[in-house]
Amino acid sequence: MNISKISVTRPNLPPLEELYPYLQKIWETRALTNNGEFHKLFEKELANYLGVKFVSLCANGTMALILALQTLRITGEVITTPYSFAATTHAIHWNGIKPVFVDIEPDYCNIDSEKIEAAITPQTTAILPVHIYGNPANVERIQEIADNYGLKVIYDAAHAFGVKINDNSVLNFGDLSVLSFHATKVFTTFEGGAIICNDEKTKKRIDFLKNFGFANEVTVVAPGINGKMNEFQAALGLLQLKYIESAIGKRKNAAETYKKNLKNIKGINFLNSAEEVKYNYAYFPIFIDEKSYGRPRDFVYEELKKNNINGRRYFYPLISQFPTYRGLPSASAENLTVAERVTKEVICLPIYPELEINKVDKICTIIDQIRSNKI
Ligand SMILES: Cc1ncc(COP(=O)(O)O)c(C=O)c1O
Repeated sequence: MNISKISVTRPNLPPLEELYPYLQKIWETRALTNNGEFHKLFEKELANYLGVKFVSLCANGTMALILALQTLRITGEVITTPYSFAATTHAIHWNGIKPVFVDIEPDYCNIDSEKIEAAITPQTTAILPVHIYGNPANVERIQEIADNYGLKVIYDAAHAFGVKINDNSVLNFGDLSVLSFHATKVFTTFEGGAIICNDEKTKKRIDFLKNFGFANEVTVVAPGINGKMNEFQAALGLLQLKYIESAIGKRKNAAETYKKNLKNIKGINFLNSAEEVKYNYAYFPIFIDEKSYGRPRDFVYEELKKNNINGRRYFYPLISQFPTYRGLPSASAENLTVAERVTKEVICLPIYPELEINKVDKICTIIDQIRSNKI
């Protein structure tokens, strides 16, 4: 079957002509960065859209994670998941903190909250879970553990833009949540990110830290960094907010079509979904059980590629397998049995608002044909 190349994602962009007035304003005012008008407005409108109290925009999600750890003065050891994008653990490492990996659960591929307590030591100061693929981690149980042991919770919510639990933003849980607006994300400003917090004092500290620690022209209150978002990104973000709901709606159609088409193919498994969650359909991961499907994951991945379909093995390899981390005791395969299995089974199939439903159908047909050895 011949189809033109389909990538795992394609950024959703507004009509170009709608961006021109914003650019004109930037050119007129020459306000390019440093908390300009678009930056201020985007922080407000974004908080409003997301249903959160305070947003502090950042240059990208990785910077936001590094800053979030700095904001709460996290030290020692941080408990996290090995099943994520590299930046989650790298942000811990860049703060001179030791990451401690805890296995994931198989229903949503999030950190297994029931295994967190066993990983706590006197050095533990925080938990850094990820809402992987936009599926909420077990926020209530995690908060309970954090409260019992006096730990902070920072969520890597890079995938969870717009996700809600019982109509409450998933970003309202924990001490801080971090978003990414990278080109591959549901909501993009080319590069970009944000920290979500619940009180003005914390927002102020983040805002100092992301601007070299400057509290005013002559007072530097902390060894901050340049973590700011610029006016172009903020302007694009304002415009993107107009289109986000329809973009998520189109993603939902694609996800439902995948599920409908693939549910009867033996050996193809999906993640669970929960009634109370409003999803953003950021990714469509499938898990290939080699025994019942009859082919290993990498065979499927390569066959899809030959057919111009570029799925991605998110998340393979595990972060705990990277040279920097594989020597840690918590990185051992025996400690991470679920993650070790899942990382060998996963392929994220293409999903983005402009993906035509007939292409989703074709991708599913190919997956069926690989199984029945017609390919
Ligand atoms: C789970 C996760 N955390 C952090 C990041 C880092 O975000 P950014 O690329 O905006 O730095 C990403 C993606 O890029 C991600 O997928």
